[in-house]
Amino acid sequence: MDDIKPMAIVFASHDGQTRLIMARLAWQIEALGQPVQLYDLGAQSPSRAVLEESSFIVLAAPVRYGFHLAPLSRFLRRQGEWLRQRHLAVISVNLTARKKGKHTPKTNPYLRRFVRRHRLNPVAQAVFAGRLAYPLYKWWERLALRFIMMISGGPTDPDAMHDYTDWQAVDRFAHHLIDVRTLLMVRENLKLDFSMNKEQI
Ligand SMILES: Cc1cc2nc3c(=O)[nH]c(=O)nc-3n(C[C@H](O)[C@H](O)[C@H](O)COP(=O)(O)O)c2cc1C
Repeated sequence: MDDIKPMAIVFASHDGQTRLIMARLAWQIEALGQPVQLYDLGAQSPSRAVLEESSFIVLAAPVRYGFHLAPLSRFLRRQGEWLRQRHLAVISVNLTARKKGKHTPKTNPYLRRFVRRHRLNPVAQAVFAGRLAYPLYKWWERLALRFIMMISGGPTDPDAMHDYTDWQAVDRFAHHLIDVRTLLMVRENLKLDFSMNKEQI
């Protein structure tokens, strides 16, 4: 395990649900024997040197008022083109994903727009429904979200608390990330072998 570079999970979270989802993902990846590092952009932004030592970078943020949290977009802009050349996975957490037709990377409008806007070419993508917790919000957040729920046919009862996250899907995504990373490593090793053989000819 020592020679396996860790996966870096870089995320932003406002109310804690994305943090919980990323902690679960990291726990599951570790349980499968793979090293992983979590970076909460609210506390620390990983340096380029740290990211260079990562085999794979997972980016995640929730949607608020129609957009992914600003710290993740800022992080992407700051890292620039270099980050786009790395193996990336992208995760969006939002309440629109609670709806059947909007819960996949292909059908979730926020994730699609995020990938397009930042010109990403991710090797893995996921969208998870988040949490609704009216009693925990400030009054204007509650008002805004009740409005969003009203137009999207969700609960508007100001006491409503719902965890819409499919935790089994989070666990499945951990397996998927490991599979994708293994395939990428095999491909890179094959390329390396091929170029070494060419030099020997
Ligand atoms: C004030 C507010 C605005 C939100 N706006 C949206 C939105 O525009 N679209 C959406 O699908 N979900 C929206 N959500 C739902 C969040 O994406 C969801 O609650 C998520 O779990 C929040 O993640 P966090 O706990 O990591 O901050 C909003 C939530 C709040 C509190």
